[in-house]
Amino acid sequence: MPETLQTITPDMVIHDVVTKYPATVKIFHGHGLPCTACSVGARESIAGGARTHRFSPEKLDLLVKDLNAVIKGEPVSVAPKKAPVGRGIPINVLGGGDANRPIKQVIAIMSGKGGVGKSLVTGLLAVSLRRQGQRVGILDGDITGPSIARMFGTTGHPTKTANGGIEPLKSKGGVKVMSMNMFLENESDPVVWRGPMVSSAIKQFYSDVDWGQLDYLLVDLPPGTSDAPMTVMQALPVDGVVIVSSPQMLATMVVMKCVHMVRHLKGTIVGVVENMSYFETPNNERYEIFGPSNATELVSVTGAPLLGQLPIDPALTSLCDSGRVEEYYSEAYEALAANFVNTLKIKR
Ligand SMILES: Nc1ncnc2c1ncn2[C@@H]1O[C@H](COP(=O)(O)OP(=O)(O)O)[C@@H](O)[C@H]1O
Ligand SMILES: [Mg+2]
Repeated sequence: MPETLQTITPDMVIHDVVTKYPATVKIFHGHGLPCTACSVGARESIAGGARTHRFSPEKLDLLVKDLNAVIKGEPVSVAPKKAPVGRGIPINVLGGGDANRPIKQVIAIMSGKGGVGKSLVTGLLAVSLRRQGQRVGILDGDITGPSIARMFGTTGHPTKTANGGIEPLKSKGGVKVMSMNMFLENESDPVVWRGPMVSSAIKQFYSDVDWGQLDYLLVDLPPGTSDAPMTVMQALPVDGVVIVSSPQMLATMVVMKCVHMVRHLKGTIVGVVENMSYFETPNNERYEIFGPSNATELVSVTGAPLLGQLPIDPALTSLCDSGRVEEYYSEAYEALAANFVNTLKIKR
C-alpha cells in the first residue's frame, strides 16, 4: 500500500491528527493529554493542548517525537495508553455530530455469528442512506472474508489520489467502498493473515484512504465475538455499534455475547436490527419463518432502540451475487435508514 505518512508538527490541530492517524490517540493519552476525547481537541493545536496541560517545552518535544514514531511503527518513549473505544476522537453519538469532522460518525455493524445478514444489512443501509442524501462509505472490516465489493459490483484496484491517499472505489449510487477484495489478484484468493496483519490493514483502510467528507462510515465487522471483530473495534475510532440479529433463540443468546463484548470495550450500542423477521407473500400474508420476533427481548438486553425489522426476500440473493444491490428497494430498508439517522442525529 502507498506510503502517505506526513510529519506531525506542534501547530497541527489535535482533531486532524487523530482523525488521520488513529494510532496517535494512545500516545496523546500516554502523555497525559486527554484532549482527543473532548471538544477542545477539535480546535486546539498540539502545542495549545500541551500549554493547557502545562507541558514543558521538553515534554512537548517528546510528545511530538512519539506521535511521529507511532505513525511510522517505531518505538515510543511512553507506554501507549488506550483511550476508551468510541472515545478516540470527539464523540458525537446521540449528542449531535461535530460539523468539523470529515467523517462524522464511524459506526460498526456487528453480529454474534455469521450468516445473519450483517453484510447485507450494512450494504442496504448504505444504499438507503445514500438515497436519502447522506454521504456514506463502507469499510469492509472482514479482511479474510470480504463481501461488500461483490455486493456493489465495485471491481478494480484502488488508485492513489492527488494528495497521496488511496482512492476508495465508488459504487454506481455513490457509496464509497474499501474492501480487501480490491487488493487480491482473484476474488477467490484466500487471505491467510493473523490478527496483527488484519489490524494493520484495517487501520490503513481507515487512515490512508481518502474518504473525503462522509456523514457515515459503516464498518462491516467480521462475524462473531472472537479476536477478529475485537481487533477491528480496537483499531478504529468507533463511535457506535449496531447489532444485527435474527429471530431465533440461539441468535438472542449470541447477541448477549455482542453486548458483553461492546461493554468490555467501553463502546456504545446505538441500535439493533432484526433481520429475516418474516416472509411476505405477494398477497401480503406474513409468515414468521424463523419463529416469532424477539425484538422486544433484543431491545431489553441491549438497552438500544430497534432500528428495523427486515423481511426475508429471495430476490436479494441474486442481486447481491450479481453486484446489483443498489437496484433493490424496500420500504423496510428506507425506514431503517430513517431511524438510523434520527437515532444518531448528525448536525450538518
Ligand atoms: N433478509 C434477507 N433476505 C434474503 N436473503 C438474505 C437476507 N439477509 C441475508 N441474506 C442472505 O444470507 C446470506 C448471508 O448474509 P450475509 O450478509 O453475508 O451474512 P453475514 O455478513 O452476517 O455473514 C447472503 O447470501 C445474503 O444474501
Ligand atoms: Mg459478512
